[in-house]
Amino acid sequence: MSRPLFALVLALSTSLAFAQAQKAPAPAYEPSVGQEGKDVVWVPTPQVVVNKMLDMAKVTKDDFVMDLGSGDGRTVITAAKRGARAMGIEYNPDMVALSEHNAREAGVAAKASFKKADLFETDFSQASVITMFLLPDINLQLRPKILELKPGTRIVSNTFTMGEWQADQTANLSSTCGATYCTALLWIVPAKVAGTHKLPQGELTLKQEFQVLSGTLQTEGKSLPVTGKVRGTQVTFTAGGHEYHARMNGKSLVPAP
Ligand SMILES: C[S@@+](CC[C@H](N)C(=O)[O-])C[C@H]1O[C@@H](n2cnc3c(N)ncnc32)[C@H](O)[C@@H]1O
Repeated sequence: MSRPLFALVLALSTSLAFAQAQKAPAPAYEPSVGQEGKDVVWVPTPQVVVNKMLDMAKVTKDDFVMDLGSGDGRTVITAAKRGARAMGIEYNPDMVALSEHNAREAGVAAKASFKKADLFETDFSQASVITMFLLPDINLQLRPKILELKPGTRIVSNTFTMGEWQADQTANLSSTCGATYCTALLWIVPAKVAGTHKLPQGELTLKQEFQVLSGTLQTEGKSLPVTGKVRGTQVTFTAGGHEYHARMNGKSLVPAP
């Protein structure tokens, strides 16, 4: 072979080898559904449910999504495909490696990251959306920490509930999901609004059970019973047959249009 031809062949084979190295090799690790995890076994959320969970949380490129117990990374990868920054927390290092591989394959490695960590020891206070498919008792253990998150943070869970904290929205996808575990639930972290507030309508005293409000409105010498809801920082309440809207601005309740 002539010297220039040899150089050409060498250059081509080097770039081919480089291209192959760039494409991540298939990981040797193949997880099996039901395999042990630290606190929960691995069962993947069906993709239609992942999509619905992210729809309900209205995930956009401005969000930071964290999946607690991220398995093979599908929720994180789907969120990253929607332009969000997303991070999976997963205790099993093989699943972390598999997720990283899957993110590279999906072309979203720059937006999707994975951390080998215990979800109970993880700071998720920076997340604007939290996704999870854990167990009811784990959700309950996480609930106090979740309720301290910034008001308006969206929490979406596959199937499992939050005890007496009722979901703000539920979608049952069992007709299209083709598997078990096909219910998407959304909660919006409520602002803390309990207490007495001065409003143009009068003096409003609120009791709060998660997002559900009750209380009284003192107005024109009368005490009217109040029922209401808080969704993030937005408060809606009814008193004397009228609906009112207000917004928590720091610690103050202010009228909203
Ligand atoms: C039911 S799977 C859900 C996987 C993924 N979120 C999904 O929806 O497809 C639960 C995952 O949590 C992981 N896990 C269990 N206990 C954990 C812990 N204490 N910290 C982090 N991950 C944990 C398991 O290894 C498993 O991958």
